[in-house]
Amino acid sequence: MEEREREAAPRIEELRRQLRLHDHRYHVLDDPLISDAEYDKLYRELVALESAYPGLVTPDSPTRKVGAAPVSEFGTVVRKVPMLSLENVTSEAALREWEDLLRNHLADPAARFSYVVEPKLDGVAVEAVYEAGVFVTGATRGDGVRGEEITAQLRTLRNVPLRLLADPPPARVEVRGEVIMTRADFEALNRRLTEAGEAPYANPRNLTAGSLKQKDPAVTAGRPLRFFAYAIGEVEGLAPATQWDLLGALRELGFATSHLSRRCADLDSALAAIEELRRARDGLEFEIDGAVVKVDDLAIAERLGIRARSPRFAVAFKFEARQATTKIREIVVQVGRTGALTPVAELEPAPLGGVTVSRATLHNRDELARLGVLVGDTVLVERAGDVIPKVVKAIADLRTGAERPFVFPVACPACGAAVREDPEEVAVYCPNRACPAQLRAALLHFGARRAMDIAGLGDKLVEALVERGIVRDFADLYGLDPGTLAGLPRMAEKSATNLLGEIAKSRDTTFSRFLLSLGIRHVGEATAAAVARDLGTLEALLAADAGRLTLIPDVGPVVARSIRDFLDAPENRAVIERLLAAGVRPREEAPAPAASDRPFAGQTVVFTGELERMARDDAEALVLRLGGKATGSVSKKTSLVVAGPGAGAKAKKASELGVEVIDEAEFLKRAGIDG
Ligand code: IVH
Repeated sequence: MEEREREAAPRIEELRRQLRLHDHRYHVLDDPLISDAEYDKLYRELVALESAYPGLVTPDSPTRKVGAAPVSEFGTVVRKVPMLSLENVTSEAALREWEDLLRNHLADPAARFSYVVEPKLDGVAVEAVYEAGVFVTGATRGDGVRGEEITAQLRTLRNVPLRLLADPPPARVEVRGEVIMTRADFEALNRRLTEAGEAPYANPRNLTAGSLKQKDPAVTAGRPLRFFAYAIGEVEGLAPATQWDLLGALRELGFATSHLSRRCADLDSALAAIEELRRARDGLEFEIDGAVVKVDDLAIAERLGIRARSPRFAVAFKFEARQATTKIREIVVQVGRTGALTPVAELEPAPLGGVTVSRATLHNRDELARLGVLVGDTVLVERAGDVIPKVVKAIADLRTGAERPFVFPVACPACGAAVREDPEEVAVYCPNRACPAQLRAALLHFGARRAMDIAGLGDKLVEALVERGIVRDFADLYGLDPGTLAGLPRMAEKSATNLLGEIAKSRDTTFSRFLLSLGIRHVGEATAAAVARDLGTLEALLAADAGRLTLIPDVGPVVARSIRDFLDAPENRAVIERLLAAGVRPREEAPAPAASDRPFAGQTVVFTGELERMARDDAEALVLRLGGKATGSVSKKTSLVVAGPGAGAKAKKASELGVEVIDEAEFLKRAGIDG
């Protein structure tokens, strides 16, 4: 070694040590110690030294994450300890049966088991092999015994360590787990791919698989993939006694494990953990398709052995499917209350997540074009939680030639007016304020529970009232009488009386409900509440110019403009006058509480990660009620970040910007909920 090289060597080692530490803090623990700029400085110094002394480059250097040459073909790895799959159960009864089988198999009817319940991550199972602590091989599961070698691809994942943290490291260990992509990353990347002319992927799992199977590892490196470890294969120098300890050992080696995993003393508590995961499912950053229940004691697990393709010690408790395939019978276009035209697929009814789905949204004209869906296509439909089912993808391979393209209308299907394009949004809309479809949707919104709360003002009735020209605007509702209603189909005397009672009762309302009921674009419940709290009365609102409106927390220039435009249109003003003349009395809201009762006064709060004690929506509403505002992204304007388990880039950004970060317990304390 040259003298200069000898001098450089310790500095190179030191830089690598530091970069490994910071990679782990950032990508695994989500808790960085230094800024991105400081990290970059260290990284650049190492790159410079390594290019000056190529003889000192090692494969586990943090600079070697990317840069391997594309492979022409994927090799095969053969493993001694196969990567097995899991038996599925879908009910409590089946899970209890599984536990009985465990007892039978051990020939011990009194055997008791404790468990680890983990989320069943919906991604791609892979293996990372380490020898003397250095990453040497990456592979997919393949058929379990033979996997595809993806060493160059897997090493690019930012939370796959190239060198294990433990000192000394195990002589050899095969670390197994799942590679996943968050929903948000999936949506963004899918959009980018389609904009570049590629076909969209149906779900994060497919896009993850596609990303790992890129022949050019540089492409994989650009994909936001994450690895969560949950098992080991062949191993020397590591012998945890329980699955729980194994997860801890994996973390000590430098891997991310899911913080959603729970240790459970018995099957009942495992069932509770499964239920917890099921409830958390919709709010998670990434998709899970069930829970995996594992016997905690690994000696017992070993004794239980394996069946044909799966181990006995673990079982997958599958949740309801989210996606199903079915056929599009027809595509229709609906007109919403603001005039937006929404294409909707009418489907051959298909069971999905416990209900029968017969319609799914195609969102808007651009999304329809992006998906390239034809009438008659077999499509993949997805339903997550309570949201409206959506068409995710057309399955072009199943086309018969009988499909036909859908031509997006240039005239409103309800009133025939020429449609317009909103330059600021993707929406195509009907500009006719008297459009019956808009009126129907507006009336339904007006009578909604959170707005004027007129029970009984449903779909069919609204349609009849609009079709017959009985109701032309909100104010007409207050002129209805028993005689007019009696002429309507299915309107018995009792229901007419009830409806008129409901309408009469709605006159006594709050200013924020009244404001929400008007259906002003961009004015949802939270904005209506903020305006009402700030201005107090309708008179004050009518007098406020756009500049004044932007002083209200939660109201930006676009919202202010939208409110002002609505109130300045003579026809809207006339309806408001007539509502007041009909006796509608929007009550002044209780004045904003005193400063001491508004601990978040003037603060902008961002929630990230999970909350354990309340739903995110409720927490955000609480902030609003206590004088602050809740937003989704961290910026210089953010006053406070509330970070729960799983907090990611937002918490990191907050600490970079010097924004205060607190946990849920502290948040509750400041909100005056916990002492
Ligand atoms: S354990 C022998 N744990 O589910 C143990 N698997 O059908 C086998 N999976 O191929 C795997 N999350 O892709 C395990 N926490 C978890 C998992 C998990 C997702 C996947 C994995 C596996 C499949 C089993």
